[in-house]
Amino acid sequence: MATFASNPTAPEDDDGYRLWLRYEPVTNAAIKVEYLKYASFIANTEKGEITGSALKELQTGLKQLIGKRVPAITTAGSRTGGVVFSLKPATGDSAAKEGYQIQPVSGNIVISAQSERGILYGTFALLRHMQMQQPLKNLRISSTPKIRYRMLNHWDNTDGTIERGYAGGSIWKWYELPERVDPRYEDYARANASLGINGTVLNNVNASARFMSQEYIGKVAAIANVLRKYGIKTYLSVYFAAPKTLGGLAGSDPLDPNVRAWWADKVAEIYKTIPDFGGFLVKANSEGEPGPQDYGRTHADGANMLAAALKPYDGIVVWRAFVYKADPDADRFKAAYEEFVPLDGQFDPKVIVQVKNGPIDFQPREPFSPLFGNMPKTPLGMEFQITQEYLGFAAHAVYEAPLFKECLESDTWVNGQGSTVAKVIDGSLHGYERTLIAGVANTGSDRNWTGHPLAQANWYAFGRLAWDHQLSAEQIAAEWTQLTLTRQIKSREHIVKMMLRSREIYIGYNTPLGLSRPWMGVHFAPEPWQSRGARPDWTATYYHRADSAGLGFDRTTSGSNALSQYRPQVQAQWNDPDKTPLPYLLWFHHVSWNKKLGSGRTLWDELCHRLYSGADSVSWMQQQWELARNDLDTRVYADVAGRLKVQRREAIWWRDAWLLYLQTFSRQPVPASLTPPDRTLEEVKKSVNIYLMR
Ligand code: GCU
Repeated sequence: MATFASNPTAPEDDDGYRLWLRYEPVTNAAIKVEYLKYASFIANTEKGEITGSALKELQTGLKQLIGKRVPAITTAGSRTGGVVFSLKPATGDSAAKEGYQIQPVSGNIVISAQSERGILYGTFALLRHMQMQQPLKNLRISSTPKIRYRMLNHWDNTDGTIERGYAGGSIWKWYELPERVDPRYEDYARANASLGINGTVLNNVNASARFMSQEYIGKVAAIANVLRKYGIKTYLSVYFAAPKTLGGLAGSDPLDPNVRAWWADKVAEIYKTIPDFGGFLVKANSEGEPGPQDYGRTHADGANMLAAALKPYDGIVVWRAFVYKADPDADRFKAAYEEFVPLDGQFDPKVIVQVKNGPIDFQPREPFSPLFGNMPKTPLGMEFQITQEYLGFAAHAVYEAPLFKECLESDTWVNGQGSTVAKVIDGSLHGYERTLIAGVANTGSDRNWTGHPLAQANWYAFGRLAWDHQLSAEQIAAEWTQLTLTRQIKSREHIVKMMLRSREIYIGYNTPLGLSRPWMGVHFAPEPWQSRGARPDWTATYYHRADSAGLGFDRTTSGSNALSQYRPQVQAQWNDPDKTPLPYLLWFHHVSWNKKLGSGRTLWDELCHRLYSGADSVSWMQQQWELARNDLDTRVYADVAGRLKVQRREAIWWRDAWLLYLQTFSRQPVPASLTPPDRTLEEVKKSVNIYLMR
């Protein structure tokens, strides 16, 4: 397979493979003249692998942007008219070490940093700047990441499938590793490095013990060798019971000396093969996975055992807080907090607890997880989901940056006003030394990596926010569109407008007013009628609680009281149904069908209006896309146009699914201004079968 650096596809026939690193020729003549002024040489005094990658990337980029092969030299001396890499002694903390400065100095463009990674990130920033045809005169960029560990989590399996993957199979070809190393791994690394992502977990959190076998460690090492060149460390998800199932021990009790010795040996074996191994990600005692509680131990005992094994090395333990019990009377919302808050202060300093953004499971809109801010002595990392498990797979266009931002900007109030979730995870609130943000990857073997061409923007947005959570969703969308789709301003504006509204539109026809739908089944089309599952909290009815009186989950004192897990100021936002903002209403209240809402409509009427307006707005998205058509590559245009048609069709029947089902409880007609569905509930239920393939 050709790499996109060496063999770019022509602009009029773009298959999406190059992502935001298209390096289209500069069309602005004056800008090109200016760029050529700095294209006499690239001075790289360093001999390191990572600066080598930076050099290669800059040469590739400049060749394509301005058509010139720029020679590399080892030192600039008194020469001018080039780009100079300047590595300075490391003085600051780990974030400062990864930052960079770019500026013109005595006739050269100088990229300076305290680490090779910093040089690489600066190089990509310069290329981004040039792709957007910005002048170099007066250029002054200075940037440092706010979070230390910026990671992707792949949920990829040994058999090449991906849990919740919608863009083909896994990009990791385990069966041909380690002998054959697919060139795509390097392009994957380039794309991530261009955003500043510095770690990746290769395998599913529902982990196979095989990843701890000698055979697989060898395969993983072959990938790590490629990623390392781009400053990316490799991590693995751990099957907690591996000492028993793989090692043949009697059990996997974290306090058993034999088990501890097994892990210590295993870690030593890994580091022998992968000297810069990043560490472990662990899903334990969650959704049937084994864990320390199988032996009467706590999550802290389990995590600390792995931390002890990693002690001689640089690696860390990322322990997930995604836990909940199959208790029909409990509220899943409260589970992670109940389990983890009492353990605050008990974790080894090498452990970071990774928390999903919301208390349930990557819903289109969730309140922020109440764990954020409530474990001051334990570094908490953020887990976002880039792959669109509940956001329409690769069929629906949903730009996720507004979702990420909404959570990051939520105020926990734990240290007074302004104690945002972002400040919890970037360590500034509680002084965490290790800080982390992770995104569940949406990449797969599809030629364009993400299935839906616009889903590339979600990978991009995650990476950019991981580096700097203060960037706005709009700025990132504008940047991505310009790098990936078109430089034409008008068309870009149409696309950005569509991207920015896309999540609210999706929520409109999928989960309006704070409904949620994390039940098992397809995780795609709403199936609100689904009332039977292996566990009570794996049904739809558990979450929406529709009955003849009303709809929604009462989480106030008269219900589960999950709200008590938040600070009083946060409770005050949500505990009165008359004051709760409508997007969160049904997260916290069981509301009667005829209750008048702030909008002036009753609950039932408001629901109907939102479902209809969401579905109708997909046509508006189609229009925006059409308006940009002439400035888009034909293939990308057609791909997205086709997917939008699918989205429109599905939006209408998802609207109908909720509406017809809830109508059996509300027993009210669709408001007169709306055209009622032209099918019955039974007909809608049958359409779900196309997804279940039964
Ligand atoms: C969701 C998802 C699972 C995944 C789990 C997790 O429940 O549907 O596929 O394993 O989250 O995050 O562990």
